[in-house]
Amino acid sequence: MNASDRRESAQTTANGAAQRAAPAGDPHPAGAASAGPAARDDGSRVARGEPIIRVEDLTAGYDGRAILEHLNFDVKRGEVFVILGGSGCGKSTLLKHMIGLYDVMAGRVYIEGQDIVSAQGDDRDAILRRIGVMYQSGALFGSMTLLENVRLPMEVFTALDAEQMDLLARMKLSLVGLVQFTGHLPSEISGGMQKRAAIARAMALDPPILFLDEPSAGLDPITSAELDALIRRLADSLGVTFVIVTHELASIFAIADRVIMLDKRVKGIIADGDPRKLRDESTDPYVHQFFHRQAELAAVPA
Ligand SMILES: Nc1ncnc2c1ncn2[C@@H]1O[C@H](COP(=O)(O)OP(=O)(O)OP(=O)(O)O)[C@@H](O)[C@H]1O
Ligand SMILES: [Mg+2]
Repeated sequence: MNASDRRESAQTTANGAAQRAAPAGDPHPAGAASAGPAARDDGSRVARGEPIIRVEDLTAGYDGRAILEHLNFDVKRGEVFVILGGSGCGKSTLLKHMIGLYDVMAGRVYIEGQDIVSAQGDDRDAILRRIGVMYQSGALFGSMTLLENVRLPMEVFTALDAEQMDLLARMKLSLVGLVQFTGHLPSEISGGMQKRAAIARAMALDPPILFLDEPSAGLDPITSAELDALIRRLADSLGVTFVIVTHELASIFAIADRVIMLDKRVKGIIADGDPRKLRDESTDPYVHQFFHRQAELAAVPA
């Protein structure tokens, strides 16, 4: 396991430290129903349609080498926001810096108005409690049943009793259509079901924002479409905000309210908006190619 994998596995939900800091006996481990004085009636701190994430002048990279420079964008509450771009352009890098997995080189990332970059200690933990993540490489724990996988964040980070955790884990698995498979091991279910179970685990603590890195990678088109329908349903019915990295054109048109497209040549955003508009109206040749699949993105010179 490399350093990056270690970081991710230590953060089954968004951030281990954040969840560990949950007060003992907190009956609402995700803070969804106990979101503090600024909370709205539905538990959210931000109205639907208002920015829930704001990225300001973000420069991010590794070991002093910038992969992305001076990024600015907002994600609105309840939106399915998709990050696009060729392999290696920095999609996962952006996602991991937005959730505080790595320190940014410069800039700010506001989650529900709170800057994750400058926040420390309990303040930072409080922000991280509001995020669920499914990493690109994020697998379920193979020796645990689906129920145990979904229960895990609750076991580690809350003081709920076993019965409460089972009930909540079943509810999450039911949300993703897997309530009949709670006792199955990941190896006993299909790839699409594994992805759904991973989403259930990311939702274990009811975060209002879910980050998914390539959720449909490796899935057949029908299974991928089912996953798209699930994401859309969770966004529409529960008001969950999604930030999703995907290459799949069909998925993009099925789920995205808005996309940004990254390009490694400019280390930044080359398109931002409604995917259909970008497909029909963009004059940028690279953006046009992507949406019309006229050339392999990988063939574009670095
Ligand atoms: N932990 C890391 N340490 C150093 N460099 C990294 C690390 N993770 C990614 N990189 C580098 O950052 C660049 C962007 O990688 P990233 O994984 O963000 O791309 P991506 O757009 O998600 O690609 P893909 O579509 O293949 O998943 C690449 O050059 C990659 O080698
Ligand atoms: Mg990636």
